[in-house]
Amino acid sequence: MAESMQGWKRTCRCAELSLNHVGEEVTVMGWVQKQRNKGGIIFVDLRDRSGILQIIFEEADCGAEAFAKAERMRSEFVIAVVGRVERRSGAVNENLKTGEIEIRARQVRILSEAETPPFPVENDSKTKEEIRLKYRYLDLRRPDLQEKLMLRSRIAAEMRSFMDKEGFLEIETPILCKSTPEGARDYLVPSRVHPGSFYALPQSPQLYKQLLMCSGYDRYFQIARCFRDEDLRADRQPEFTQADMELSFVDVDDVIDVNERLIQHICREAVGLEVQLPLPRLKWQEAMDRYGSDKPDTRFGMELTDVSDVVAGCGFGVFTSALAGGGSVRGLNVKGQAAMPRKKIDALVDFARGYGAKGLAYLSVQEDGSYKSSFAKFMTEEELNRLVQAMQGERGDLLLFAADKKNIVYSVLGALRVELGKQLGLIDESKFNFLWVVEFPLLEWSDEENRYMAMHHPFTMPMEEDWQYIDSDPGRVRAKAYDIVLNGVELGGGSVRIHQNDIQEKMFEVLGFTKEQAWERFGFLLNAFKYGVPPHAGLAYGLDRFVMLLVGAENIREVIAFPKVKDASCLMTEAPGTVDKEQLDELHIAVLSEEEAE
Ligand code: AMO
Ligand code: AMP
Repeated sequence: MAESMQGWKRTCRCAELSLNHVGEEVTVMGWVQKQRNKGGIIFVDLRDRSGILQIIFEEADCGAEAFAKAERMRSEFVIAVVGRVERRSGAVNENLKTGEIEIRARQVRILSEAETPPFPVENDSKTKEEIRLKYRYLDLRRPDLQEKLMLRSRIAAEMRSFMDKEGFLEIETPILCKSTPEGARDYLVPSRVHPGSFYALPQSPQLYKQLLMCSGYDRYFQIARCFRDEDLRADRQPEFTQADMELSFVDVDDVIDVNERLIQHICREAVGLEVQLPLPRLKWQEAMDRYGSDKPDTRFGMELTDVSDVVAGCGFGVFTSALAGGGSVRGLNVKGQAAMPRKKIDALVDFARGYGAKGLAYLSVQEDGSYKSSFAKFMTEEELNRLVQAMQGERGDLLLFAADKKNIVYSVLGALRVELGKQLGLIDESKFNFLWVVEFPLLEWSDEENRYMAMHHPFTMPMEEDWQYIDSDPGRVRAKAYDIVLNGVELGGGSVRIHQNDIQEKMFEVLGFTKEQAWERFGFLLNAFKYGVPPHAGLAYGLDRFVMLLVGAENIREVIAFPKVKDASCLMTEAPGTVDKEQLDELHIAVLSEEEAE
């Protein structure tokens, strides 16, 4: 029979006790980690979110009834214990924060019994993630997950306290919004009152925070839930949290300044990490040229080399035809890997194909100085020598080349670089390399849509000196946009916004919206701008990603209490689920079978 608290009050958490408390009487409550019955003496490891504490039961101290209860205890029972803190009678447990003490129980209550859990509550669980997510409430009892979520709470608290001191106001924005497609797919919510109409869940508070600037709130901040119906990856969830901000009367440097200090504050206060300011800044073009990525991991080298000029006119058709098509040939020098077995190289070629490469050409400089290469027969000795020299290839090096359209070459070599960095153990895991990527292109050509798309979003301000090219060469226009990157992950991004109606209208035109379409979608914003709008700019962090990197988690799911899995479902609640016909009728919604939908 489960007992109730009946006036007992917890005096502290388990692991808040130490030798300093010896002799004190305390009341602790928590879950039984383990019960060991040694005959006349029973040891119970009691667990709460602070850690584990050893309780010792002997009939002489606690009486027969309490001792009988201790005999009955099994893992995950919830109990309350009154007892005295003592120096450990047995050996000190170096692995426990409370390893030098124990509680000699005087009274005990069993507050809840527990069935045998489907997996043991312990760190480094070997249990498959599907099972753990199905029983997430048990999984969340594991100390390492608890530590991560506690740190997440700490990070959010430090964020709030910093933003408050800097004069930011925390203002909530709606979850039921108007669909403004651009970017990811929206999650839609049907309206009961307006049959056939839908709200969209926000992909970010972007438009609202810009409106708040129009309303004069000048520094806004919010820890905001965002929703995007996109394919999931290790660092993506369909609902996630942004630490979102917007500031008035500022330019790029002002946003960067306050955010560098925010990052420094959080790292110092939450994880004791000292971040040197200012953070490095890399222009987008330089990031792409050196790392093949707009979120470079700078914890290791192996930068890309452009060999287009060197191979121009050589005998290897793969290279020259890529160049003839306006593309580029670039390479990676994988130091000391000339002896990489053919099978491993083939796996790299397959990996490159996954990023759109048609192939991956390689050349290894043997220890005797000769070359082994997939394309040697197409080039003269002299052409090969020049190529190796351009790559700073030395004996023992493996050179990998991609030839294609520039954006494919970047993405192939960028991904390959990171993959090789991991495979070859080149990454210094102790480093936290923050950096800004700035001067992004304003627009990005989409073959799929056959039009320019906003690289960030349609409200991003172009750089003044580039605006002249908006008609003649739109791809050349850079934006006042910036991303903050940590160890190869995009932590956050933002931009200065357009606050002039003529520039905004031109942007919509370039993006292929008619005036009517633009007004239909964003009319409320364009209208607001007619009544006095301050220059403004902002940024949003992916809070989940920030926490993931600071706590050293491999996957974003480890820092979200109740995450979704790859197909955007929740294994515990089994959401999404079907609903009653009455519910659908009320919403004027009919669900088509797959055949009907065809
Ligand atoms: P952006 O779309 O770059 O910018 O998003 C900001 C940051 O949010 C995080 N993020 C995600 N995290 C987890 N799961 C996802 N599916 C996901 N999508 C994005 C990333 C990203 O850097 N309104 C603008 C910001 C601005 O301009 O102020 C915006 O939403 O870490
Ligand atoms: P092939 O003549 O098609 O056998 O190609 C010779 C070598 O060039 C092989 O190692 C291919 O993997 C490589 N290769 C093919 N296409 C490309 C490309 N677009 N970029 C780099 N290497 C390529």
